[in-house]
Amino acid sequence: MAEEEKKIKATSEVKKEVKKEKSSTPVKKTVRRKKAAPPAKAKEKPKASKVKEEKEVAKENSGVDSVKVVQQDQPSTEPVSEPPVLTRHPPKRNPAPRRYPIDLSEIKPTTKYLSGLKGKRSIVGLTAYDAIMSKLISKAGVDFILVGDSVGTTLLGYETTIPVTIDNMVHHTAAVRRGNPGCLVIADLPFGEASLSFDRLLDSARRLMQNGADAVKIEGGKDIADDIEKLVATGIPVMGHIGLLPQTVKAIGGYRKFGTDREEADNLYTDAISLEEAGCFAVIAEMMDERIATQLAGQILPPLIGIGSGDQCDGQILVTHDLLGLTPSPLPSFVKPCATLGLDGLNALSGYVQKIRSRQVIRK
Ligand code: KIV
Repeated sequence: MAEEEKKIKATSEVKKEVKKEKSSTPVKKTVRRKKAAPPAKAKEKPKASKVKEEKEVAKENSGVDSVKVVQQDQPSTEPVSEPPVLTRHPPKRNPAPRRYPIDLSEIKPTTKYLSGLKGKRSIVGLTAYDAIMSKLISKAGVDFILVGDSVGTTLLGYETTIPVTIDNMVHHTAAVRRGNPGCLVIADLPFGEASLSFDRLLDSARRLMQNGADAVKIEGGKDIADDIEKLVATGIPVMGHIGLLPQTVKAIGGYRKFGTDREEADNLYTDAISLEEAGCFAVIAEMMDERIATQLAGQILPPLIGIGSGDQCDGQILVTHDLLGLTPSPLPSFVKPCATLGLDGLNALSGYVQKIRSRQVIRK
């Protein structure tokens, strides 16, 4: 009986051992595999440079400095072959990063540099009235920024530039300077400042220069040339402005072309020569007959920078808001906008307003 018991015990010990062994051995399951699909392009592990590029684009889109990118080698619940996931501000399918083909280091914020461009290449100037635009257009490679009194019609809601004051101009000039542009900043002397007295003119020009301007612009030709000469002698560089003078729009009865008859063409010639002799480093020619502007550009030493005066001047200046499609009123015929920012902005804003309005607000 004892012998029989021993046998049974031994058999059950062996069974236990086998069971124990079985449970510690990994089970080899039969897994049914799907037929391997051909490698999909989208599932390829992105190269390091691509991840970097996506980071850059996302950063540009969001304006946020740190964009978290989940990389393949980080613990993730995603299948290993999935592309990296941007956890914040996913980038839109953007065009390639913008290139800025102009060498900005070539541009010098001096009147000498600007005058020296005459005969070498076409000069380009644009208006700005605030720090953001100043930064943008400087990055775009302009040779100079004009803080024009067009701020009155463009930003301040006036019908003409006449209500613009020297305080307005000082305020906007300082803002443009804070944008830290790499080019020359020229500020407009507003209506009346050049006509009261030379002391008043000097004081206003001084305020502009002490608040960020590198030079001032004054509307007018031979009648103002003596005062310009005195300003230049005190160390204030002056840009002239002939042809259509927007500050005289009430007196001349509207905006029109200048130099279309002999007498007016002769007057423009006298104005241009007077400004050259007064020491202007450049002269703006606004709404001038194209043939007269072309001839004048060839006859005076300072660059003649046109606006609505044809494309044969030494350069061009435009109101940036007109160029970008931000001006709601009808544009001057010579402006060919290169963007539709006003319309695009309106669409974006109304989309946002609709999104918020349609949100369900549940209060308990
Ligand atoms: O005020 C201005 O913007 C100007 C330019 C149009 C030349 O004078």
